[in-house]
Order: sequence, then C-alpha cells, then structure tokens
Amino acid sequence: MRFAGKTAVVAGGASGIGLAILRGLAREGARVLCADVSDERLAAVAQELPEAVVTRADVTREAEVEAMMGLAVERFGGLDCSFHVAGASRPGYLVDLSEQDWDFTTDLCLKGVFLCMKHAARHMLGRGGGAMVNIASLNAHVPMHAGAAYASAKAGVEMLTKNGALEWGAEGVRVNAVLPGLVQTPLTKRHFDNQAALDAFLARIPLGRAAQPEDIAGPALFLASEEARYVSGASLLVDGAWAVSGYPDMRPFRGAPGWPKPG
Ligand SMILES: NC(=O)c1ccc[n+]([C@@H]2O[C@H](COP(=O)([O-])OP(=O)(O)OC[C@H]3O[C@@H](n4cnc5c(N)ncnc54)[C@H](O)[C@@H]3O)[C@@H](O)[C@H]2O)c1
Repeated sequence: MRFAGKTAVVAGGASGIGLAILRGLAREGARVLCADVSDERLAAVAQELPEAVVTRADVTREAEVEAMMGLAVERFGGLDCSFHVAGASRPGYLVDLSEQDWDFTTDLCLKGVFLCMKHAARHMLGRGGGAMVNIASLNAHVPMHAGAAYASAKAGVEMLTKNGALEWGAEGVRVNAVLPGLVQTPLTKRHFDNQAALDAFLARIPLGRAAQPEDIAGPALFLASEEARYVSGASLLVDGAWAVSGYPDMRPFRGAPGWPKPG
C-alpha cells in the first residue's frame, strides 16, 4: 500500500503500460484519474475500476490537459503523482516522412509530455511537491529504421525529464523517466503477429523475452513512490538488457561458454 492516501493521474491510462500503472496504483491504495482519447477503452476502465475517475483528454491539446489535471484536483483535493504515458508513432523513413506524420508523432510523444508536466507542476509547486514519471523508450538512446520522429521525440522526453527535475527540485517535485524496451501491448501487436520480426527482437534481448506491461509498471511505481524520494532526473532502462546487446552474438564463432575451473 505504498500509495495509500495519494492521488494520481495517468495520461494514456486506458491501455497497455498506462493501464498496468493505473491498476498498480489502485491496488496500492491511490485514488486515480485515467485520461485517454479512446472512449471505448475508458468505458472498460470505468467498469473494471469503478472508483477511478475517467475522462477523455487529448494530451496534445493544452486546454484538455489543463482541464484533466484540474479535474483530478477538484475530485481528490490535490495531486501527488502524475504518469505521462500516452504515445504512438506514424513511422516513415526520413527521406519520405511527411511533415504531418512528423508532427503527429512529435506532438503526441514530446509536446504531450511537456503539457502534462506543465499542468501537473502547477498543482504540485508550492503545495508540498509531487512525483512525475514520463514514459520514454529505449529509442531515446537507440535509433530505429523508419523511427526518426519517434526516437527524436523520446530522446526529447529524456531531456524534458532532466529539465523538470532541475527547475522543480527545490519545490520537492521529482521527475523521472522510464525507458521501456519491447513490451507486448496493442501498440506493438504487429511485431508479435510476425514471428520473424519477433525473433529478430528477441535475439537482441538477453533476458530472452519481451516485457509484459506489468514489468514496466513496477519500476514506474517505484520511481513515484517514497522509496525513490532521492531519485530525480533519472532515466531507468527497463529493457531486459537490450541496450547492452549491440554487439553481435559471437558464441557461434567461439564455441560454447566455459565454466571457470575450481581452485
Ligand atoms: N509497447 C512498447 O514496446 C513500448 C516500448 C517503449 C515505449 N513505449 C511507450 O509506452 C507508452 C505506452 O505505450 P503502450 O505500448 O502501452 O501503448 P498502448 O497503445 O497500449 O497505449 C497507449 C494509450 O495512449 C492513448 N493515447 C493515444 N493518443 C493519445 C492522446 N493524444 N491523448 C491521450 N491518450 C492517448 C491510447 O488511446 C492508448 O490507450 C507510449 O508512450 C509508448 O511510446 C512502448
């Protein structure tokens, strides 16, 4: 019950990683507001978690973000934690990528996080502080084919996180980022439906499997919790060690790994 008596907003909370965070918060005693653009998914959340406040809000629209944070404060009397999870991408190779697709991806993944941070901070500064968690991606560090807009936006989220930590630390507002690797959610369904693509991913992931949304929610909740009270401006890779596997697997060329000899 690390979040007993706490209040939290999850932006993009009706599916995948956001939904796992929402469930975790509710299980640990928080009063939660779930914001999303999908009415259908919001209705499912309302049914599953009748205590939760659910609201339609598009994180790329400032007035809607402001209203969503205001609603949480109106209903709960304050805001302790805010999770900025909404994200998606319209992929395209740089040479073909349209301005519209660039804007869609960067508006959602980068501007959306900025707007959520700004309006969450307005309820935390001068009111005892709070904790924010931004969901970036391993792609903040690693580029991908046809993913320039997404990777650039996620790299931006990492810097936004550091800037928030710098500007708000003195007021007790902590800001951290989680950088997931491959997670099985509706967003990545196309990879899981394509065995060859999935195998190519798994060959890079030393822990040997993709993450489930709960594998990401745990570290995100930790960062928002009292246990992480001295952690701010940090980026936590939650990727099954994918980030360290850039070098090809040389075992086929070197033989089986040996055991150290006793003595
Ligand atoms: N799944 C992965 O492998 C993976 C890896 C790294 C990072 N991420 C990031 O994690 C976050 C969550 O992804 P997911 O895999 O859970 O995806 P998901 O599609 O399951 O969930 C994303 C949610 O965001 C909502 N959303 C989309 N646009 C929105 C908007 N404008 N305003 C408010 N809500 C909006 C969607 O309706 C959906 O409910 C994203 O930021 C994504 O980039 C995912």
